[in-house]
Formats: sequence, structure tokens, C-alpha cells
Amino acid sequence: MSNEAKIPYKIYLSEDEIPKQWYNVRADMKNKPAPLLNPGTLNPMSFDELRPVFCDELIKQELDDTTAYIDIPQEIQDFYKMYRPSPLVRAYCLEKALDTPAKIYYKFEGNNTSGSHKLNSAIVQAYYAKQQGLKGVTTETGAGQWGTALSMASAYLGIDCKVYMVKVSYEQKPFRREVMRTYGASVTPSPSMDTEIGRKINAEHPGTTGSLGCAISEAVEVATKTEGYRYVLGSVLNQVLLHQSVIGLEAKAALDKYGIKPDVVIGCAGGGSNLGGLISPFMGEKLRGEQDYRIVAVEPASCPSFTRGKFAYDFCDTGMVCPLAKMYTLGSNFIPSANHAGGLRYHGMSPVLSQLYHDGYMEAISVEQTSVFEAAEQFARVEGILPAPESSHAIRAAIDEALKCKETGEEKTILFGLTGTGYFDMVAYQKFNDGEMSDYIPTDAELEASFAKLPKVD
Ligand SMILES: Cc1ncc(COP(=O)(O)O)c(C=O)c1O
Repeated sequence: MSNEAKIPYKIYLSEDEIPKQWYNVRADMKNKPAPLLNPGTLNPMSFDELRPVFCDELIKQELDDTTAYIDIPQEIQDFYKMYRPSPLVRAYCLEKALDTPAKIYYKFEGNNTSGSHKLNSAIVQAYYAKQQGLKGVTTETGAGQWGTALSMASAYLGIDCKVYMVKVSYEQKPFRREVMRTYGASVTPSPSMDTEIGRKINAEHPGTTGSLGCAISEAVEVATKTEGYRYVLGSVLNQVLLHQSVIGLEAKAALDKYGIKPDVVIGCAGGGSNLGGLISPFMGEKLRGEQDYRIVAVEPASCPSFTRGKFAYDFCDTGMVCPLAKMYTLGSNFIPSANHAGGLRYHGMSPVLSQLYHDGYMEAISVEQTSVFEAAEQFARVEGILPAPESSHAIRAAIDEALKCKETGEEKTILFGLTGTGYFDMVAYQKFNDGEMSDYIPTDAELEASFAKLPKVD
């Protein structure tokens, strides 16, 4: 029997093997991500300036570019045990269907009720809010996975949760909304008429279906104007990538058990949290010069922050109330086409990943929506999991990589992040099945118009 045949379909770790510390990739980066800037003064945001918006402990994590390992509080380790470690799956059936010599592995994060990796950070952020004695948290949600995860975490810890949900998702995904309400959260379609910024955006863009950038502005406004509340964010920020490092640490520990080294690590990229988490220990080795890996971000052609964006300081939100981050961005005014389903509709990208991409440590590609759903369907039919549209961007890239191996005969090992399940995305699947899905790709002129409004920062 070859060594190959001994690798099980699912490589599980024991409960004791769940990481006890998060890994902070910034500690190993020579060029650190640029600091967040105060939108008024354009100076780096200090701890005190961030305090009205974020919880204290999370600000410390946000600003910490040097501590490589940060302890995971015992209560969070215990919560993780309810749904972690998540399985690392060898996609034998997909390999067979593709008739490829490539070996494909995926880390499946859809094993909890929120249906995605977002719970890994939601529980942490809700935990620190509770520790600080706060009454509740506010947030935005696009596709709904993050809002669901935060609702679950807040319910578990007994704090209030107010979610601003991008209007197009609120309308397309009524059941996602009801899950959040079942967990006790209030859910408001964004832009709403409840906030100053929401009223302004509605007046300027009548009939807008919203964007994550708008919803962030509303959630921040409510947090800063309501006593005992702070804002929490499900992606983009350094702290979120830190929490999501459990994905990569577990994946690497499982692969190491069998002496497997991936040649290429692939993840979908919205704001960068799953990708940043999945790649973190691999990137750490790469940054320290210990190993080399190809690392590939996959984004939608409809919202191509890495592949067509500018590396510049920009607002994280449409209302321009949040700090500025240096990142690959399409401009905070960019509102992605409403026909694109899913949570990859954010104009910017994590400053950590942006810096790594800028410095040549990773690649990025963009893929079109119909080809993503073709890959999702192909995967679902052989691997038994109905993938989230976001995750299916990574599936598309992994399948393409495996098909290249078929042509060249190379036996590459591919690892990709399967970030969640798509049960609430059936409107998008229905469009695909009915042949009504289209691929919207922004024109250069549209992007240039948005770039022209980038803030001027020297
Ligand atoms: C299932 C799933 N995967 C991926 C993403 C993209 O987010 P991020 O780039 O932060 O991982 C989302 C965002 O909502 C999601 O719901």
C-alpha cells in the first residue's frame, strides 16, 4: 500500500490540538502594514482615539505588530471546542472527477450554524466586549454570515447585537435575517433612515441597494452615539486576521501529521479574513525564509480590489467616518453591482494582505460569477457539500489549478479554504440554474471615476 492511500478523507485533530495561541503574521513582516489614520488629522490613530469605536483589548491586538503569539483566553478555547477543530478534507472524489494527478485538500469552516469561518472572530470580539462590561455591539453584514456569527456569539455571552444588513442581502436572504433575529439580534436594512449617514446616502443615491461600506458607516455611527456599545468588524482589520489564524494553524498541524507540504494555498478574498487566517502559518514560514509556498487570493471580477485596485490610503466605509487604511481599494465610493451574490462585495482589502501582495509574497486572480457557480455545482455533486458562493471562488481556482496539473502531469498538492455553506444562497443558485446569472465586470472608466475620489494622503 502506498503512503498516499493512508491519508484519510478527513484529517481531524483532537480537541487538545486546537491552537492555544493565535499567530500574528505581522510579527514576521519586514514591511509592517501601514497604520490606520485619523480621518480628521491624517495622523496614525492612537489607542485613545480608537477607544470610542472598538473594545480596548481588541485595539491592543489591532496595534500590536510585534507579538508573534497571543494567548487564546480559556473561555474562547472552550467555545471553539463546540465546533472546532474543523475538518481538513482530502478531496479524493473531486480529484477522481477531474482525473487529475493533483492532490486537493480543503479546510472546511462551514461546520457551525452560522455556516462559515466568521464565528472564529465573532466569539472573540463579543467576549472582549463582555469583559469590558459593555451592553452590546453593532456591526454590518453583507451576505449575512458575519451578522449570524455575531448574533450567535452575542446570544451565547448575553450581550445585545445590532446588525446593519446590506439592503440587497436583506431582501434576497430573508431566512438569513430570521436566523439572526432568532439569536436575538436586531437587523436593519442598510442604508436605513435611522442614522444621519444612512439618510445622507439614501438622498445621494436614491434606490441604492447598499454596500458593506454604507452599512459599516451606519454601525459605527450607532456604536459611537449609544452609551455602552462598541462597533465590531468581521473582516479587513488586523485583529480579525489574528483570530482567523486558527484556520491556518489547524490546517498546518493536520498536514504536518502526515508530512504533507502544500505547493499552493488558495483562498477567496472579500476583506481578507479567511485568506489571512488560512495562510498565516504558511506565510510565516515564507517570510522567515524557511519554506516557499505559492499563495493565491481569488476575488470576484465584479469587485476586483487586488487585481484592479490601487494601493492607497482610503476610507473603510462609504460615509467616510471610519479611520483610513492603506490597502488595495476600488475607492470607498465604489458600489459593486447588485447582481453579484455574496460577501466579496467590499471595496477594500486587509492592510496586512495588501502589504504582502504589494511586496510580492502572494498572487491574486479574479474570476467571473458564472464560472464560480459552475465550479460550485461540480464540487457539490462529488464532495457532498453545498458551498457558499464566496468559498466557490476558491473552488474555481483550485479546480483550474488541478486541471493544469492534468495537462502537465504534475502532482501538485493544493490546499484551499472552503469557508462556508451556501444554504441561504439559493436565490443565487436559482439564477444560475435558470441560466439568468450574468457576469458584471466594471469598466476602467467606472473605476477611474471612483479612484478620482480617493482621499489625498502624502
Ligand atoms: C462564507 C464566506 N466566505 C468568505 C467571505 C469573505 O470574507 P473574508 O474575505 O473576510 O474571509 C465571506 C464574507 O461574508 C463569507 O461569508
